[in-house]
Amino acid sequence: MKYLVLARVAMLNFTVNLAKKAGEYLRENFGKELNVEHKGRIDLVTQIDRNSQDMIVGDIERKYPLHSIIAEEGVNRASGHDYTWFVDPLDGTVNYVHGIPFFSVSLGIFKDMRPYIGVCYNPISGDLFSAQTGKGAFRNGKKIMVSKTSLLVDSLIVTGFPYSLARLDDSMMRFTRILREVQGIRRFGSAALDLCFVAAGSFDGFWEVGLHPWDLAAGVVVLLEAGGRASGLSGEGFDPHRGDILASNGRIHSDLMRLM
Ligand code: IPD
Ligand code: CA
Ligand code: CA
Repeated sequence: MKYLVLARVAMLNFTVNLAKKAGEYLRENFGKELNVEHKGRIDLVTQIDRNSQDMIVGDIERKYPLHSIIAEEGVNRASGHDYTWFVDPLDGTVNYVHGIPFFSVSLGIFKDMRPYIGVCYNPISGDLFSAQTGKGAFRNGKKIMVSKTSLLVDSLIVTGFPYSLARLDDSMMRFTRILREVQGIRRFGSAALDLCFVAAGSFDGFWEVGLHPWDLAAGVVVLLEAGGRASGLSGEGFDPHRGDILASNGRIHSDLMRLM
């Protein structure tokens, strides 16, 4: 038992250091001229995303060679091990490319497909969010909690728009429906940080469709540990592979669900 606790603390420290290392690389290259490629019509990738990922995946493989790793830029190594790493080496590539300092390194670990460790780091603001199941969530070492807002009219919500046009109309209908009932809606461009800011109580809720496990895993661990709730849009149990997410402080969850 004691060994497991120590191993988990070591894993959290390793993950924090890895996020800082990759984040420092992103920071050093932020604002430099980039060679931007398109994975889809508006879905971008740069050599910086790839280098950041190589750095992260290489270090995980050396330290935990048996673990499964699913990383955005083409790594999908399902080893069947209890531990799965979900790696987004740069969450907020569009912001990064446009010189907007809102992006993150997002590292989530699930054990037996359940939330275990989450770390999101914005190297520009220096915000480091971290959590391990059962031990609370932290922003730069200080404990964070979700907001106590219970009325939609007082709620500030954050969202993102899908890259796929097929889901755009639905998203816009939801957007209008929700906007009529809440204080406001923001769109910042890093799903991982969006979730962390719900965890920290700045936002009261978040929803987005068509995401990937690497966008969600780390932020969901942080959110749950800060007392929040994550589910599918209709309230079904959170599954990082499902990609549609409703997240909140818990108190406004059912009201948001009704509007989804
Ligand atoms: C994107 C960001 C954005 C969200 C997109 C994601 P990327 O991730 O999280 O906030 O709206 O759906 O794909 O492509 O910058 O890693
Ligand atoms: Ca992402
Ligand atoms: Ca990314």
